[in-house]
Amino acid sequence: MATLGVNIDHIANVRQARKTVEPDPVQFAFLAELGGADSITVHLREDRRHIQDRDVILLKKTIKTKLNLEMAATPEMLEIAKKILPDYVTLVPEKREEVTTEGGLDVKANVQYLKDFVGNLKDSKIEVSAFIDPLRDQINYSKEIGFNFIELHTGKYAELSGYDQYKELQRIIESTHLANDLGLVVNAGHGLNYNNVKKIASINNMNELNIGHSIVARALAIGLEKSVREMKSLIKSN
Ligand code: PXP
Repeated sequence: MATLGVNIDHIANVRQARKTVEPDPVQFAFLAELGGADSITVHLREDRRHIQDRDVILLKKTIKTKLNLEMAATPEMLEIAKKILPDYVTLVPEKREEVTTEGGLDVKANVQYLKDFVGNLKDSKIEVSAFIDPLRDQINYSKEIGFNFIELHTGKYAELSGYDQYKELQRIIESTHLANDLGLVVNAGHGLNYNNVKKIASINNMNELNIGHSIVARALAIGLEKSVREMKSLIKSN
């Protein structure tokens, strides 16, 4: 059975909308673990638009599961990862103007740079994953570079429907098998939700699914009524 990595970037998005202290992603990581999360994922972006350095430092000290740090393959991030020592790092492409990670990392275009980068992280006993599109070439090069894991980008699968979605699912299944044959551990994520997750979760040897947006959206749907009721009762009891 695939495990669940919960991405809590959106909690930090709400906090940063006011640049205040709540909601605190560290508290929500604790709640996610109570709910059964097998790991906690955060993306420390170059522009620090949601997760802050302080969050990653505190998460590393407090979570009981595993910390997956998503980051761009830059010298600044390498230094941070080697200082904080997350359980694993997932390398993602990063563009300042994007709302969320758009495509997979083009590992084929940066083989030597990534070999050195991944080697450097592994020297610090950090396991490394590449967030890539489900493409044969990208998988082969991920193996050559020395990644321990790949995370297959399911964004396209999530956007499509009908036969097109079926075809994309087959591409993800074949990619999983190819990567497994090469000895890579396979994770998947992006755009997974309560409607589309089952088919990805049932792929043989799927290791972990990383899910953020739909879980946080559901948390709001389940929690808002109660939070309004509590505020109303405070006002009434005055
Ligand atoms: N995996 C990676 C590499 C991501 O960048 C993201 C988004 O931050 C996710 C998984 C989670 O995607 P979503 O928020 O759509 O569930």
